[in-house]
Amino acid sequence: MNPDFSAGVAHVDGQYVALRDARIPLVDRGFVRSDATYDVAHVWQGRFFRLDDHIDRFLWSMGELRMSLPLSKKEMRHILEQCVALSGLRDAYVQMTCTRGVPPPGSRDPRECQNRFYAFSQPFVWIGTPAQQRTGLAMVISQVQRIASAAIDTRVKNFHWLDLTMGIFEAYDRGALVAALPDAQGNVTEGAGFNIFGAKDGALFTPRRNVFEGMTRRTVIELARQLGIGCELADIPVQRLREADEIFITSTAGGVMPVTRLDEASVGHGEVGPLTQQLQRMYWQRAADDPRNTPVPYENMAAARGGKELA
Ligand SMILES: Cc1ncc(COP(=O)(O)O)c(C=O)c1O
Repeated sequence: MNPDFSAGVAHVDGQYVALRDARIPLVDRGFVRSDATYDVAHVWQGRFFRLDDHIDRFLWSMGELRMSLPLSKKEMRHILEQCVALSGLRDAYVQMTCTRGVPPPGSRDPRECQNRFYAFSQPFVWIGTPAQQRTGLAMVISQVQRIASAAIDTRVKNFHWLDLTMGIFEAYDRGALVAALPDAQGNVTEGAGFNIFGAKDGALFTPRRNVFEGMTRRTVIELARQLGIGCELADIPVQRLREADEIFITSTAGGVMPVTRLDEASVGHGEVGPLTQQLQRMYWQRAADDPRNTPVPYENMAAARGGKELA
């Protein structure tokens, strides 16, 4: 096997290649115009978490952007499975992307582009590492506003990340790890790659709009229902978040991650709270042994060696 595959595998133009060797055309509008949508699933201990739900959400996002691909859901699933199987990764971050594609020379008409599909696996990514999660993360309320859904529908996973990226810089500048972006009305939205939850008096709340409706957020809402705990989807003024007993963020890149500092203040008692701990445990339990999780077909790996397409 190509040794470079162990750091991740990409699927580009029908071929599997080492991630670091993968290339896209420079004039693909996905690159020059952020004209793309994507989704990220994860593999934990050799099993995909909610892969069908991720593919369904991806197809929905594509529809919203008037994109289509000559690939069935089954074919997409197969490609994503192979990207992981070929890498041998047991814990992986797996991205599927659809770009508008390359316009004919001189054209700026998006209808003339053939949409393109790219996929890749890479080692699992943590927004907050397990060590950082043990003490809880420090978060700031950013000065940067989140792009509003009225401009770009945040429910469609997109590459418009400059607000989120400047938030990352701001967090580091202010001695924190992550930043929560407010909207124009001063309500909390989300941060770079994560949703935000607060807990007060044993019930959860999370922003209802101007956010990407994350798969981990969806999972936490389901777990809360299972526990008989309320979870309110509402406009959350920054002050309401400051008064929370517990705060945590959710992402495919790290699961349920406690936040124990917000700006200069401790959250609650400044320790990882009991509800956060319980949801963390349940989330990873589900990632490990939910019967709906699907195993990666590592045994097919040999058949695809050498970057050849699989039947
Ligand atoms: C802007 C934004 N919000 C929230 C999330 C969390 O979504 P998920 O739980 O599906 O990873 C992401 C994931 O990348 C994101 O990009």
